[in-house]
Amino acid sequence: MVKTSDLLKPANREEAELLEKLDLKRLPNHIAIIMDGNGRWAERRHLPRVAGHRAGVKAARVVIESCARLHIPCLTLYAFSLENWRRPRAEVDFLMRLLREYLKREMPLIQRNNIRLLVIGRSSELPEGVREDIREAMRLTARNTGMKLVIALNYGGRAELADAFNALLDHVRANGLAAFRADEKTISNHLYTAGLPDPDLLIRTSGEMRVSNFLLWQIAYAELYVTEELWPDFSRARLLDALVDFQRRERRYGGLGAGHGSTPGGSASAAPAGHLEKAKPRRRLNPENMHRSGRG
Ligand code: FPP
Repeated sequence: MVKTSDLLKPANREEAELLEKLDLKRLPNHIAIIMDGNGRWAERRHLPRVAGHRAGVKAARVVIESCARLHIPCLTLYAFSLENWRRPRAEVDFLMRLLREYLKREMPLIQRNNIRLLVIGRSSELPEGVREDIREAMRLTARNTGMKLVIALNYGGRAELADAFNALLDHVRANGLAAFRADEKTISNHLYTAGLPDPDLLIRTSGEMRVSNFLLWQIAYAELYVTEELWPDFSRARLLDALVDFQRRERRYGGLGAGHGSTPGGSASAAPAGHLEKAKPRRRLNPENMHRSGRG
């Protein structure tokens, strides 16, 4: 039962107008976000890169709470990739400290919003202190029944697939299953995301048109939404923009779409016929953002 007090309340006229346009019954089941542009946000203000990461945490807080209050079942944030170890040591150390600080400082907000925290990635390679804090945060939120907040940490999509294949091979060898054959379901069940719905919306900030080794298997049918906003500037209104845009898309899953029969596969928002519009690519090019990206 949804209590109206838990629902998202608009903070201003722009949010109210965007909320008006949203059909709350057709929201994505799983939003995945590549939070890019913290460094550029800081550089443009002549601040150290780490100031951009701090501002990025604030943006994450707003998006997390907004998604929880919209009753989005699952939100995955790409916080640290396997490739991010190539950054200067001081920046990596800062990001690890920021994450530990986040897990402690944001716990009241996470609990208040009934959020269950999960972490995906090669966590065994993370510093012991970070692992301890992750275990504790997962333990504290294990009984929460609201949105699943998945933090991708020391994560790489190809590494996830390699880990899944090796887990399957171990299973085959341990049980002497000479005739074993894998299918899509077996593979999904051995990914870090086993049991979670596949993302139906992938958002990337700061304009780069890449998936950067993020959830490679799981985003097979996701709608992609790339915005020029740098991550620290990604506000609640910009999240609502992405959701409104998502609801305008026609999701065909390789079929023919509305009026041509059923849409196989995927559990995501099946838009009622008559409400469907052709997908409009939404990307305004901003040459300022095109020079480089820290996300590979
Ligand atoms: C990209 O900016 C962002 C990251 C490397 C991830 C760090 C994310 C945060 C600090 C947000 C916090 C989220 C949580 C939940 C702890 P970039 O440095 O790649 O930017 P650039 O491409 O402009 O250099």
